[in-house]
Amino acid sequence: MKRLNSQLQDDGAPMELILLIRTLLAGCKEIAFRVSQGALAGVLGSTLSENVQGETQKKLDVISNQILKDILKDSGYVKAISSEEEDDVVPCNPDGKYLVSFDPLDGSSNTDINSLIGTIFSISHAPQWMKPDDPSAFLQPGTQSVAAGYVLYGPSAMLAMTTGRGTHIYTLDKTHGGFLLTKANVQVPEQTAEFAINTSNQRHWEEPIQNYVADLIAGEDGPREKDYNMRWVAAMVGDIHRVLTRGGIFLYPFDKRNPNKPGKLRLLYEANPMAFLMEQAGGLASTGTGRIMEVMPTEIHQRVPVLLGSKEEVKACLSYY
Ligand code: F6P
Ligand code: MN
Repeated sequence: MKRLNSQLQDDGAPMELILLIRTLLAGCKEIAFRVSQGALAGVLGSTLSENVQGETQKKLDVISNQILKDILKDSGYVKAISSEEEDDVVPCNPDGKYLVSFDPLDGSSNTDINSLIGTIFSISHAPQWMKPDDPSAFLQPGTQSVAAGYVLYGPSAMLAMTTGRGTHIYTLDKTHGGFLLTKANVQVPEQTAEFAINTSNQRHWEEPIQNYVADLIAGEDGPREKDYNMRWVAAMVGDIHRVLTRGGIFLYPFDKRNPNKPGKLRLLYEANPMAFLMEQAGGLASTGTGRIMEVMPTEIHQRVPVLLGSKEEVKACLSYY
């Protein structure tokens, strides 16, 4: 089976980017190990602190963030980091060529129930003029990313990644510690009969999503004239992996509750990397009013509405706007 390294080379990734990706993934392998130790290592449960987003931090959030931060800082390839678990940008090597944004452990509330979790990341070039502690260089649209992906810590650890030449899926072979290519050039089916949304938020949705989801639920008797099924992993990384694998639409739409939180998911290290993967796999990724990858961020922890997945289904959803 093909190794990650040779796929990255075939996709024309520059050597320094390949080395950076391998470094990042070395951190993810350590996270995979810690996660798998679970209760044996005393890593489950919460800390007493909250992150900048006001979410209670799980012990594994803190551990995963520290692992990635340490390994990326040491590598020399990275000028600065932005992380879900860090209030501000973390300065690294002033001569580093890349910026890395990550959610160290997405869906971490799933740790306590031994369910799917993962690391989501996005890499872009660090402008030369940029000082390592300057957040402004992170405020570029997703179209500027050079690589993005996630590692899913499930029954097997899997990596989905793109460097802009298709989305490929790899499986971690724990016997020798390498990621092996198990699905090249993923193509998300254009049609689907599966949707993912947290319907407990229904009363907070805007009218287009209210109407769209009502029509999905109406099934064969409604205007869509087919029955839909619903799935919700409560970890974006798990839901997106399902959509990449067999199609579907994933929605975390605009929410009227709090004007400062127009959506739940964060642009830099959740929405953008997943949008990049989805588009490279032939799917679509929108905020409802535009392409996610074209949103110009105004702050590193910015939230956006997310509608992504199978092309025809996302188009159908957008037609309600
Ligand atoms: O990181 C935020 C997140 O945990 C996503 O991974 C997931 O899709 C979503 O929140 C789950 O939200 P809810 O709590 O509404 O199920
Ligand atoms: Mn997350």
